[in-house]
Amino acid sequence: MNSVVVFVVFSWFGVVGRSSAVEVREKESGAKRSSQCPRITSKEKRAISKIECHKSIHKRVVHREESLHPINMFPTASLILILTLVHLLDAATPGAEFSYSGENGPDHWPGVCNSGQYQSPIDIPKHGHEKAHMEPFVFENYDYTAKGVRLENKPNTVKLEFLANEHEVESTGQVHDLDHSMHVSQGGLDHKFQLAQIHFHWGNTDNEGSEHLLNQVAYPMEMHVVHFNTKYGGHLLDALAEGRGANDTLAVLGFFFKLTNKDNEKLKPIVDGLQFIHEFSSETELKVFPVSDILSEDLSRFYRYTGSLTTPGCNEVVIWTIFEEPIEISERQLRQFRDVSQLHQRMQNNFRPVRPLHKRTVLYVDTSASSMASMSFPLTLISVALALLIAKK
Ligand SMILES: *[C@@H]1O[C@H](CO)[C@@H](O)[C@H](O)[C@H]1NC(C)=O
Ligand SMILES: [Zn+2]
Repeated sequence: MNSVVVFVVFSWFGVVGRSSAVEVREKESGAKRSSQCPRITSKEKRAISKIECHKSIHKRVVHREESLHPINMFPTASLILILTLVHLLDAATPGAEFSYSGENGPDHWPGVCNSGQYQSPIDIPKHGHEKAHMEPFVFENYDYTAKGVRLENKPNTVKLEFLANEHEVESTGQVHDLDHSMHVSQGGLDHKFQLAQIHFHWGNTDNEGSEHLLNQVAYPMEMHVVHFNTKYGGHLLDALAEGRGANDTLAVLGFFFKLTNKDNEKLKPIVDGLQFIHEFSSETELKVFPVSDILSEDLSRFYRYTGSLTTPGCNEVVIWTIFEEPIEISERQLRQFRDVSQLHQRMQNNFRPVRPLHKRTVLYVDTSASSMASMSFPLTLISVALALLIAKK
């Protein structure tokens, strides 16, 4: 997808707000501009011409969408949603126009980022969460070594993508058939969720960096393993389109990192690759490694809640899982992340501050067998009592 158009529609939505499809159609005929927005060097001029240009492109895109789906009742809304999601998940080109401080900082992120009641990240409360038992997660093909792994310097993060075979869609690296794709199920998930990408958030000091907090305490880094619901499609974009904002469109597995003295050898493929992507917008191919290697060893205890993407448009489409056991990382390894550059500065403190929980509950889930045994203790008692009764007769 053309990242310019994606960005343009996204920003237009942020600046102008929502407008009705009818209004858009009326104005359509008057707007006959080229599909490329002009390059203008002066800042203010650029801002103005961008908005103008966005409007015209937006109109054309909406118009096309309408003619393709005449029955669709919410073409504008769904198209904007899709393009917005594309924008943030693929964090377009030099121009991801959000940042973590200043005038594009989190306080100024548009729309639902500000008004939403299901925003992420959150401070996971130590008390006041409900305990729950679920079946353990089933990770399929995570020990499978993909054909290729690409590490990319994206605006505001570094991202891992997995290339499994030559038939794949460029840039998403997703396999069509579930037999060969990395996907996760159980763990309280109702469907199979396929891996789309992995990215990281970190700080420039050791006492901040994670997006989620645990009882108000931050970890120095957090990893997001992003999956889409295969119930909605075979690719990330299909799922986002078909999901239409459903709260189970994505399942993101979040992992905290804690500092240790010695290097975590399992992170070596990633950390070694970072030196080749210090420069903004660069990428490198990594030696393949099983993704299961870089997850926490104990995946049986985690927090579960419903939330959002943590970058604009902050869409509330995510089933969040935050694992209790952190992954280990050394100071030296963490420094490799902190040395990655953005356009004008180091890529650091790329985490969003926590958002209010509002009316949500956070579940504390234990999928281990011992927790199962304790849950079924009353059942054991009843069967013993029954056995005794029968024995008496
Ligand atoms: C998710 O959405 C469904 C359908 O709209 C709704 O029934 C459910 O309560 C939502 N779940 C949460 C945790 O908000
Ligand atoms: Zn993230």
